[in-house]
Amino acid sequence: MSAAPLRQSRASSLSDRDEVRYLGRLLGDVIRDFDGKAAFDTIEELRQASVAVHRDDAPERRAELARLLAGLSLDDAVRFIRGFLNFSLLANIAEDRQAGIVPSGSETRPERLEGALAELARHGVAPEDVAATLAGALISPVLTAHPTEVRRKSVIDRESAIAALVAGRADTSDPADPDAVDAALYRQIALLWQTRPLRAVRLLVVDEIANALSVMRESLMPVLPALHRRVETLLGGASVGSFLKPGSWIGGDRDGNPFVTAETLRMALAGQARVALQHYLDEVHALGAELSISASIASVTPALAALAEASGDESPHRQDEPYRRALSGIYARLAETHVELTGVRPPRAAKLLADAYAAPEALIADLSVVRDSLITHGGIRFAGTRLDDLIRAASIFGFHLAALDMRQNSGIHRAVVAELLREAGVCADYEALSVPERTALLRRELAHRRLLVSPFASYSEETRGELDILRAAAEAHRRYGPASIRNYLISHSTCVADLFEVYLLLKEAGLYHPGDVPACAVMVSPLFETIEDLEAAPAVMREFLTLPEARALAEARGGVQEVMIGYSDSNKDGGYLTSNWALFEASLALADVFADSGIRLQLFHGRGGTVGRGGGSAFAGIRAQPPGTVGGRIRITEQGEVIASKYGTPALAALNLETMTSATLLATLAPPETDPADLARFSTAMETLSAAARAAYRGLVYETPGFNTYFRAATPVGEIAELKIGSRPSSRTKSDRIEDLRAIPWVFSWSQSRVMLPGWFGVGAALSAFPDKALLKAMNAEWPFFAATLSNMSMVLAKSDIDIAALYSDLVEDEGLRGTVFGEISAGWHRTRDQLLEITGHTEFLGDDPALARRVRMRLPYIEPLNALQVELIRRYRRGETDARVREGIHLTINGIAAGLRNSG
Ligand code: PGA
Repeated sequence: MSAAPLRQSRASSLSDRDEVRYLGRLLGDVIRDFDGKAAFDTIEELRQASVAVHRDDAPERRAELARLLAGLSLDDAVRFIRGFLNFSLLANIAEDRQAGIVPSGSETRPERLEGALAELARHGVAPEDVAATLAGALISPVLTAHPTEVRRKSVIDRESAIAALVAGRADTSDPADPDAVDAALYRQIALLWQTRPLRAVRLLVVDEIANALSVMRESLMPVLPALHRRVETLLGGASVGSFLKPGSWIGGDRDGNPFVTAETLRMALAGQARVALQHYLDEVHALGAELSISASIASVTPALAALAEASGDESPHRQDEPYRRALSGIYARLAETHVELTGVRPPRAAKLLADAYAAPEALIADLSVVRDSLITHGGIRFAGTRLDDLIRAASIFGFHLAALDMRQNSGIHRAVVAELLREAGVCADYEALSVPERTALLRRELAHRRLLVSPFASYSEETRGELDILRAAAEAHRRYGPASIRNYLISHSTCVADLFEVYLLLKEAGLYHPGDVPACAVMVSPLFETIEDLEAAPAVMREFLTLPEARALAEARGGVQEVMIGYSDSNKDGGYLTSNWALFEASLALADVFADSGIRLQLFHGRGGTVGRGGGSAFAGIRAQPPGTVGGRIRITEQGEVIASKYGTPALAALNLETMTSATLLATLAPPETDPADLARFSTAMETLSAAARAAYRGLVYETPGFNTYFRAATPVGEIAELKIGSRPSSRTKSDRIEDLRAIPWVFSWSQSRVMLPGWFGVGAALSAFPDKALLKAMNAEWPFFAATLSNMSMVLAKSDIDIAALYSDLVEDEGLRGTVFGEISAGWHRTRDQLLEITGHTEFLGDDPALARRVRMRLPYIEPLNALQVELIRRYRRGETDARVREGIHLTINGIAAGLRNSG
């Protein structure tokens, strides 16, 4: 943040490091201009002291940094934290910009479609095979509102504006005056500096919906059609179905969130319809402006002539312009559809009166008439890409934009079903029945048409709420079509009865139709999330798929059944290595079960951004899936801060969706990278490693007396719960057991305290006890699953810092407890580090990714002082200091550390 001149050169050649420096200097200017030289000097002195510690970790440098931090007044501390927070935000912009630049020559990399297709060709997979796979494929990023994004939308918006200016500045072909760009950047950074980083009030579901809608509108809608077009071109012009489709949980995931109701479901879908239809209206309008073709000069097909005639557009200006007339008619029908589906007129009213479209297919049919006429009388190039993309958009997004999933916990379903059965006089105590008894009863109920719900009975609030949202889902199917809600996820699934309970509830809402061949437009997907449940999943699904009604339901939807697997909760339950292994094994066993049953498996990966919640490279993650488990169909949750970093701009979205597509194609069509004999050998080793890691992890977390007390004192878990970053409460129940804590605050708090425990603990114990080091090295070299597991762990460890963790442990008052638990953590950390380096042959973390290692190192000086201040402020806060700046300071440090660490929530 030093006061060097604003601009060095027109910066197409700036590296991310130079760009970070440039933005940092602008921030320094802003702070000096708005808060004065003294404020700037204080922050700058601290910055230099922290950077000096990272250059040369001498005790006197540390002491100097500590002295400066201790000397800060509360006002200065808050300003300083904001300074570092904003610096990290600006550094992220530079990093993301570089990540979004597609390096020339990168096409050969397997992440890129060209590279993936070339690799497949080397394996003898022809373009027709790829096209055939895509015909039955589904690749779906599913946006969720999991509360790990600490930034306000206003902050993200400023960042986007800055990112656009930085990109423009680097573009030497852009004639914009560089000084004007610098001035605009200065202004945006000044606005950012004066924008409050913390939310004043808790985020509501409606805000979460609005945030997701903006990502869908700005990034997904423009990018997905073009990506399909690119795939078709690369496949030599083959036509492929719409395989990339977004999903969302926002407004429908009510597991542990009492604020998600029938009303939010309606709001989400109406908002989605508005975005989709507005896009279509805009595009039709633009086409209308463009297609000024006169019938006196060119011919049109009879179908187009008929469409023009039927439009009712009698304007004398357009009488000889059949395309424009046809498009006016389409516009009018879309505008009416807008009114019907969203309840409001679109901002640009139609000039004609027309009937709404009953379904997106009717819109596609009309647009295809236009396209066919253009092609017949001018050729493909004449038809252009805008119309193609619009037709593709209508096929991907329909009138619903993204499939909205519903989710609820199995325990709630059980209680609701029990109440309905009791009130209807079918079963006095359903919950007391054994699982087979429950399954049998549910199947009997599902076999006939009689309903349980009576308008004259009075049900509990919970039951009424559940019935309401199901009825809202049925209404949504009538309004927006069955593509609007396709899946219903059951958290904490353990048995077949869990699935049938939901079908029974769907029946009550008219969504499940009994009969010889039952039908249900909503697929019920179990979510298996503890180690025990993952282990049981294959048997549960085997039992389910042998039942005729389950098979009939799957067959009616193309022979597919989805199973969701949870990364975070399995990690919290069994630790990092065991969770990864349990997920791998369950997937593999599920693939066998499904292969036997003849039904296709669709795995839905419930993962977050940080490694402890299944994060890490999406490409490596998908490629590392066990053989036979992808099969062209995959859904993956995208949450929190990951949404902005992967989909924040169209360029990033295009790149990340392409990566997802390449990885899915390779995982589906390339031969397994690991030889089956090796896989068997490696799996046996993993069994041993996983058992040892689990024992070490559970020994610490669940079996060490007082561990919970340690955790609550030595991390900011309580303070994180006070952040207003999500609509849902941070715990499902009032219990404070670790088992009952949600995975997000668990992982988030370990990240803040820089222990990153969920990303590694137990691994060192397992690896060090394993005698055959040569085998471990072979596993790392030859097995993508193991390599990805270690590589992700390496990233986590690079962001951890055991000395900083020690500062947090000082918050634990009981000295004995502190010594025991921190001693275990520290010994485990050192063991894990040593083992990792030995097996990978690296000398430092992230040895396999030096560029990332450098980026992480560059950030650490901006994080560490925030950790030190956080510890100090937490100490004061917990001692009862009531000055609002103490709490504000803590919350700002949480933001600042999260911004610096990036994927930490
Ligand atoms: P859940 O998600 O608590 O909503 O099941 C866990 C996670 O994503 O970490």
